[in-house]
Amino acid sequence: MRNFISVNHLSEEEIFSIIETAEEFRHGETRNVTQQLFAANLFYEPSTRTKMSFIVAQKKLGMDVLDFHSETSSVRKGETLYDTAKTYEAIGANILFIRHQDDTWYDNLLQTIEIPIINAGAGKGEHPTQCMLDLMTIYQEFGKFTGLNVAIAGDIKHSRVARSNAYALQRLGANVYFSGAPEFADTTLDFPYISMDEAAATCDVMMLLRIQHERHEEKYVDKDTTYLQHYGLTTERARRMKKHAIILHPAPINRGVEIDTTLVECERSRIFKQMANGVYVRMAIITKLLAERGFIHDLTKERKK
Ligand code: CP
Repeated sequence: MRNFISVNHLSEEEIFSIIETAEEFRHGETRNVTQQLFAANLFYEPSTRTKMSFIVAQKKLGMDVLDFHSETSSVRKGETLYDTAKTYEAIGANILFIRHQDDTWYDNLLQTIEIPIINAGAGKGEHPTQCMLDLMTIYQEFGKFTGLNVAIAGDIKHSRVARSNAYALQRLGANVYFSGAPEFADTTLDFPYISMDEAAATCDVMMLLRIQHERHEEKYVDKDTTYLQHYGLTTERARRMKKHAIILHPAPINRGVEIDTTLVECERSRIFKQMANGVYVRMAIITKLLAERGFIHDLTKERKK
């Protein structure tokens, strides 16, 4: 694994190995880089969870963190992502963490940038580290993926989380369903659509997504007051969920829109557990990339000894 761009690039063995390593970090395992290494966080889109959990992961692994703010950088003078990434590599960054609004921003970087690149979010394309922390959270709960019914509900069309999760979960044997307003359906993704009532009654995992207003070409006429009743998880629907079923949400959450506010921290909710897992899964991914370059000892290889 030289870069981390999409979960689809990983074998099933690699997916389970990342989850296993993340669990070891969760249980107190530690690792430190063997020399000074600079981690550069190039976030061109807003972020709270992904950026901060990457920074926590980088610091826990003993890395030096280089921050970047596009609005006060030479991006303001027209510098491209490509030239910015090349610049960070030239001045000594050892690994790049990039979030950018382009769905495939990494295409023209992977050929020439030699240091590892981690996809921290690509437009409407993929959000692979979010996917890995979601997989970790589901696996903690059920100990398997095969046969689980997973409903992904909300603004599917504009969601990189939906795309990453749907393919990864299907590959791992889960039955994936989409649910949501017709205008948010994505006909390019071949997954069955069901109503929220059916999703609530049949799913083991209910994954909710917010309306991604910032990615809409036309302003979505604000139906927020009725949206919850039609397409969201109400308390009434949550009561009809299976006893063991859990609620996930990548966050940020629009309380009262895609989910009733009282459900955000309810017994079924694993939303804040997802965020905590985000640190461990990101530590695991960084460790694997740096181990390939000999900058840190790989837990997986030590496990096999
Ligand atoms: N889930 C997620 O990507 O959150 P942020 O946008 O806050 O990073």
